[in-house]
This record gives sequence, C-alpha cells and structure tokens, in this order.
Amino acid sequence: MALRLGDIAPDFEQDSSEGRIRFHAWLGDSWGVLFSHPADYTPVCTTELGLTARLKDEFARRGVKAIALSVDNVDSHRGWIQDINETQSTQVNFPILADGDRKVSQLYDMIHPNANETLTVRSLFIIDPKKKVRLIITYPASTGRNFNEILRVIDSLQLTDNHSVATPGNWQDGDDVVIVPSLKDEAVIREKFPKGYQAVRPYLRLTPQPNK
Ligand code: BEZ
Repeated sequence: MALRLGDIAPDFEQDSSEGRIRFHAWLGDSWGVLFSHPADYTPVCTTELGLTARLKDEFARRGVKAIALSVDNVDSHRGWIQDINETQSTQVNFPILADGDRKVSQLYDMIHPNANETLTVRSLFIIDPKKKVRLIITYPASTGRNFNEILRVIDSLQLTDNHSVATPGNWQDGDDVVIVPSLKDEAVIREKFPKGYQAVRPYLRLTPQPNK
C-alpha cells in the first residue's frame, strides 16, 4: 500500500554517490527530505539538484538533511554531479541514492507505471526526527519542484511542533499564524502567546508568529 502522512518512513540500505546508506541511521535526529528524479543527465533534475545544493545553509539552519534518488548507478551519479557543480555554480553536498534495483523506489511508491514504467516520478517526502512522513508531493517529470515551498512547509511543520500553531494559506515566514483549534485552555493560551491573539471567529484565532 502507498505511504501516507503519519506513517513511519520505511528504512532501507542502498548505495549512493557517498557510499552505502542505512537510511534511518543516516537521518539520525535530523529532519529529512528524500526526493526522486526520473534520470541522471536530464535538464530539470540538474537544476533541482543545483538548487538543493545552493540551499545547503537553509536546510542546515532547520536541521534538515537532503537525499536524492534516481535509478541510475553510482558512476553515472558521480559524473553527473561534476556537471551539476559546473553548470549550476555549486557543489553538490548531499548523497544521491543509486536505486538500480528499484528497492527504495518501490518502498516509497515512486514509480507510477502509467506515467513511466521504469523511471521514478518527481516524488518528495519530508520526514521528521521521529521518522514520520509529514509531507508527500508528486510532480510530473517535466515540472521542477519549488524548493522555497519545501522550506516553507518545513518552517510550518516546525512551528506546529514547537508552538501549537498552524499556518494560513499562502503564509510566509513572519506573517501571523493561527492557534491550533485543539488548544482551548485560556490560561495555557495566555502563557504560550504573550503577544495576545485576535479571535476573528472562535475557531479562527490569529497571533503573531511566536518565534519572531
Ligand atoms: C527532465 O529534465 O528530467 C525532464 C524534462 C522533460 C521531460 C521529462 C523530464
């Protein structure tokens, strides 16, 4: 059955451009972003991997490790990484899994046979430090993903986990957030949100972003 939000991300052992990886051990206590690509030496993937490398500091600031995957082999990955470094003016600083036997692709349901029988689609999973899957997105092969949106979702998830708030539609870092509906105790609310809140409706309570 396909993975769903809240499931434990399946563990695996697989080769990569940085050696053999045992996924859960490699993640350690970090958040993780696992994302698949249709193939090496393809234009959209080249830009996505370059972007991810250039966002290294942004991922690190949030305690996130990135790991990519395609079904090509380690030698191919290593050659392609040189191309990415040259053409995208960066240094790829995360592993690319070499999933030739489709072990990980199948575990994470990354091959959609009606789109392509053998290659992975553009899947992406955000995994939290308890190894729970917190976001799943699937993009078509011809559309590169927006990695600023991935960072935005990580910020939102971390705010929810740390401050009991959720983020409204189109929320950007620094905008007001909403107090989660399950939080009802006024004393707890006052303590958690010393800047106060505005109750537009009893279920819609806006408060300044707590970590700003
Ligand atoms: C790619 O660069 O990965 C790609 C481009 C067009 C269609 C499919 C894939």
